[in-house]
Amino acid sequence: MFLAFIVGSAGSGKSMLTSALAEYLLEKEQDVCTVNLDPGVLNLPYNPDIDVRAYISVEDIQEEYGLGPNGALVMASDLIANYIEDLRDEIEDTGAEYILVDTPGQLELFAFRASGPFIVREISRNPKAIVYLIDAPFSANPLNFVSNLYLSVAVYTRILEPQIYVLSKADLVDEDTREKILDWFEDFDMLEADVEGAIKDERLFMARSIVEGLKSLDIFSELIPVSAKTGEGLPLLSAALTRVFTGGEEMLEG
Ligand code: GTP
Repeated sequence: MFLAFIVGSAGSGKSMLTSALAEYLLEKEQDVCTVNLDPGVLNLPYNPDIDVRAYISVEDIQEEYGLGPNGALVMASDLIANYIEDLRDEIEDTGAEYILVDTPGQLELFAFRASGPFIVREISRNPKAIVYLIDAPFSANPLNFVSNLYLSVAVYTRILEPQIYVLSKADLVDEDTREKILDWFEDFDMLEADVEGAIKDERLFMARSIVEGLKSLDIFSELIPVSAKTGEGLPLLSAALTRVFTGGEEMLEG
């Protein structure tokens, strides 16, 4: 059993990707189970096999504690930790090979509160990976791309599980933009040059320092363009997951 946590900033396409990847894996006759960890989500494009909303209701929390929607959402995300054993049992009981975990809409509720790393650690003892979504339309600007990578590093320092990078909603950018973003990921010198070309104000010094920092980290393997809408890139993503979960065996054999 392997767990892939789908993580990314709000609206980066987590739920759509969970849905599309689950469908893809099912078509390939893989045993897959979907878990929704977002207590606040109203509509999902798939029917989760396991749903945290069965345990936690944001509306009830609002009423009970007199909180507004944001406060209730923060509390709801923290409360997941109280049901971790139930979730773990439910996951174990599926016996599925792939567990796809759709994480809360707001990345910070998942990654930057004490409950997030606890949930990842305790939800299962099986191997885990983070599928980190980098929103393609948002990342067409080099400075946005840099901030997204920086955020992914922050997530890594919190969760400390292998990360697979996905350029999500790839169908929404033209071929040139996509190539440019992929080139930036491959070659941070090129990214730095484009950052310098794009920024003239005091942000330049900071952006340059961040790119220098990114260069010194050895966690960026590949960026996989994926469209949950057209299905493009799902075979590559599935192969990347297999490589992570089998410790690179498939890659060595190939
Ligand atoms: P929150 O949990 O609300 O933060 O969102 P999310 O990260 O789960 O994103 P979601 O899957 O809800 O997608 C956000 C919006 O982007 C929706 O309107 C989707 O239809 C759209 N979207 C997601 N993936 C794709 C994609 O691959 N292509 C296109 N064209 N649109 C997409």
